[in-house]
Amino acid sequence: MNKNKYYITTPIYYPSDKLHIGHAYCTVAADVMARYKRLTGHEVLFLTGTDEHGLKIEDKAREAGVTPQQFVDSIVEGPRGVLDLWKLMNISNDRFIRTTDPYHEEAVKKIFKQLYDQGDIYKGKYEGKYCKPCESFWTDSQLVEGKCPDCGREVADAQEEAYFFRLSKYSDRIRDLLENTDFLEPRSRVNEMVNNFIKPGLEDLCVSRTSFKWGVPVDFDPGHVVYVWIDALSNYITALGYDNDQFHDFKDFWPADVHFVGKEIVRFHSIIWPAILMALNLPLPKKVYGHGWLLLDGGKMSKSKGNVVDPYLLAERYSVDALRYFLMREFPFGSDGNFSNEGLITRINVDLANDLGNLVSRTLTMTGSYFGGTLPARQEEGPEDREMVSLCASLRDQYEAHMEKFAFQDALMDVFRVISHANKYIDETKPWVLSKEKEEKGPRLARVLYNLLESVRLCTVLLTPFMPQTCEKIFTQLGADPALQTWESAGHFGSLPAQVTVTRGENLFPRIDMAKELKALEEAHAALLKQEAKTSREKAPEEAPSYITFDDFVKVQFITCKVLACEAVPKSKKLLRFTLDCGEGRTRQILSGIHEYYEPEELVGKTLVACSNLAPRKMMGLESNGMLISAVKEVDGKEQLHLLMLEDTVPAGFTLC
Ligand code: MSP
Repeated sequence: MNKNKYYITTPIYYPSDKLHIGHAYCTVAADVMARYKRLTGHEVLFLTGTDEHGLKIEDKAREAGVTPQQFVDSIVEGPRGVLDLWKLMNISNDRFIRTTDPYHEEAVKKIFKQLYDQGDIYKGKYEGKYCKPCESFWTDSQLVEGKCPDCGREVADAQEEAYFFRLSKYSDRIRDLLENTDFLEPRSRVNEMVNNFIKPGLEDLCVSRTSFKWGVPVDFDPGHVVYVWIDALSNYITALGYDNDQFHDFKDFWPADVHFVGKEIVRFHSIIWPAILMALNLPLPKKVYGHGWLLLDGGKMSKSKGNVVDPYLLAERYSVDALRYFLMREFPFGSDGNFSNEGLITRINVDLANDLGNLVSRTLTMTGSYFGGTLPARQEEGPEDREMVSLCASLRDQYEAHMEKFAFQDALMDVFRVISHANKYIDETKPWVLSKEKEEKGPRLARVLYNLLESVRLCTVLLTPFMPQTCEKIFTQLGADPALQTWESAGHFGSLPAQVTVTRGENLFPRIDMAKELKALEEAHAALLKQEAKTSREKAPEEAPSYITFDDFVKVQFITCKVLACEAVPKSKKLLRFTLDCGEGRTRQILSGIHEYYEPEELVGKTLVACSNLAPRKMMGLESNGMLISAVKEVDGKEQLHLLMLEDTVPAGFTLC
């Protein structure tokens, strides 16, 4: 293994919804690390991608009326999809893997077969409590009061044939790996893994499914598909060419230097993944780093909560670099952090506009106005320069120590300490006074400006992994050629030629008016949601035929029904569960997503209209047998809804025509 090679990965993302700022967090961090390693002379392979199989995708595709492949294609490759987002965020990945790539699927089949042939995977029986309507197996500890945690119904003992991976066999080796090496960081995650999973005893892992089809088939046993995590984790080696001929970098780049992963998937990466590699007799990754979450109002971001933050909107408004800087500076990488627009705007104003932007603009403006842009020969360094020079001289080593520990926040704090000091140095040396003192104007003033330009250059080299576009602009203004942008040159104060010529450019980060901007941001967000709703509405008529025939129309059956009971579905913001008398001699259950318009109690006893021959559908594990009819319209960008209610004198079970 060549010590100059560096292999870094992000988790591969589920393209079940568009990505949000929380997803961008890890990828930006990995990109910063990859750029830093390239800067320090490594040959880097930076991998990211998408994890495209599984029941969730199959369900979403069905809901959207497309095939699973079409569904994932649109989210990965479509407008404002995953690939677009990484391009926008200036992510410099060298490879992008999709688990539906044929080379990957073929390699996964081979890996599964090899593990089966050597006895690490065996066929057994999955035993558990089965909820028939939900088609789900549960363990005793997952049940809620002995019932299905999804729908609350009775469960029964059941068995199903499935393949198992002998995870238990690797328990001692995994414990040793976690406790006695630096494999998993931060250290707090080690205790979590050992206490919650290893100590209670690792059980063999069920690694095949028969309840859905959208996965890599177990080719020697039709009907079974490979468990998504086995499929997904394998990406880290198949993307290098393991068990396939698509790529040929396995020898050079494996083992990975680091897998960056969010904290909730540390278990898969620090227990299951090393066990699979042990079984395959392959070296283990050098490190798994479990970073924290970006929270919104103290909770996790998620589409179902409706609280996701759109990275496109933020990047387009404030620049990609400002967003990248904020993500890396605001939160310590190993811990959770609360995302807020106020926090973002404050960072832009204080750090980027006031500190960095001001330093660059003041220094270049003064060089321009006092010396026409080209410095003359300078004086020797004086005692008042020493602190500035020594801070700069030690900066690269401090920065490196933090970067090697993935302490991005600390690395940035060190750079900005020098930036602040440089601003203070301007105030203390007062170049505008020096420029007026005849005998001083010249060598001394040139020395001061040189020190400032050189500190800007050093800081810019070190900021390049975080804000590549901004740094390029600063280098252009400084007239710093590529030799002055290198890691080596960041270790030497004094590399900039004495008689450097600079060119003042545009303002790097204009200040933002917080109050006005927060309002504008809210409006932009509302407009975006409106636009998304409009686009999906506009799409529909194109696809739908303008007319239906009379025969089609009479196929739809509408029936009157009385609400016997109505309750909110647990864990769902929108769904109400109706028990209805539709005059059929038995009750009928319908789920309707109208909780934001009605409280359940106000609907009990009402006479409603339902479509009674809609195919049954499952939502949140509950079966819905029909659809309640409502009048719906968007007014001023907000949807209004009224359930169709009839007079109470109308009996249940009447059909509408
Ligand atoms: N497909 C799996 C990963 C398989 S890797 C072999 C997966 N995908 S995911 O799309 O759900 O999440 C991808 C990553 O995004 C995870 O590491 C997850 O922690 C991270 N994040 C999702 N929301 C996040 C935040 N709000 N904040 C920070 N990271 C978050 O898991």
